[in-house]
Amino acid sequence: MDEKIDRILISEDEIRDRVEQLAASISQDYQDRGPVVLIGVLKGSFIFLADLARRLTIPRVVEFIAVSSYEHGDTRSGAVRLIMDVRDSIEDKHVLIVEDIVDSGHTLHYLLDMLQSRRPASLKSCALLRKAERAEVDVTVDYVGFEIADEWVVGYGLDYSERGRTLPYIGVIAT
Ligand code: IMP
Ligand code: MG
Repeated sequence: MDEKIDRILISEDEIRDRVEQLAASISQDYQDRGPVVLIGVLKGSFIFLADLARRLTIPRVVEFIAVSSYEHGDTRSGAVRLIMDVRDSIEDKHVLIVEDIVDSGHTLHYLLDMLQSRRPASLKSCALLRKAERAEVDVTVDYVGFEIADEWVVGYGLDYSERGRTLPYIGVIAT
């Protein structure tokens, strides 16, 4: 796998430091609020969520949700489909969506809309990466790890047709 990476964009150390900072801000913001329900968006968020969840110093619960946004490889359609829902009700709970990357914003927009209709006590979002210049819908991301340029990246949970997902760093793939 490594030989297919053009270059490393964000190193393992940089990711670790940033996740630590994000966990510290989130822990501070959610202090005295009761448990936060972390909803990881599968599959891309699984490694980020695992690291983030373990660094929080506040009570937390882990849930997962799965959506499909791209029908064919990385082709963009804007249509988001729910594939797997969370197990428990989020009504009156403090909910934080944990995403790998916000690209066009369609996925996060869909999730915020859908989860808000279930009347959580609060609803916020956290994404490890954001490609701001690709935004097609205006969506607030409360916690962003890194702003990146418009390039396809893999590693630390992110994939290109299932390739590169378990790399420890974020790299630009040679396509
Ligand atoms: P959006 O709906 O366009 O914001 O896309 C969000 C989803 O597209 C993310 O959760 C990823 O699964 C996927 N995605 C977008 N850009 C990349 C990338 O550069 N690498 C890997 N996955 C990506
Ligand atoms: Mg994703």
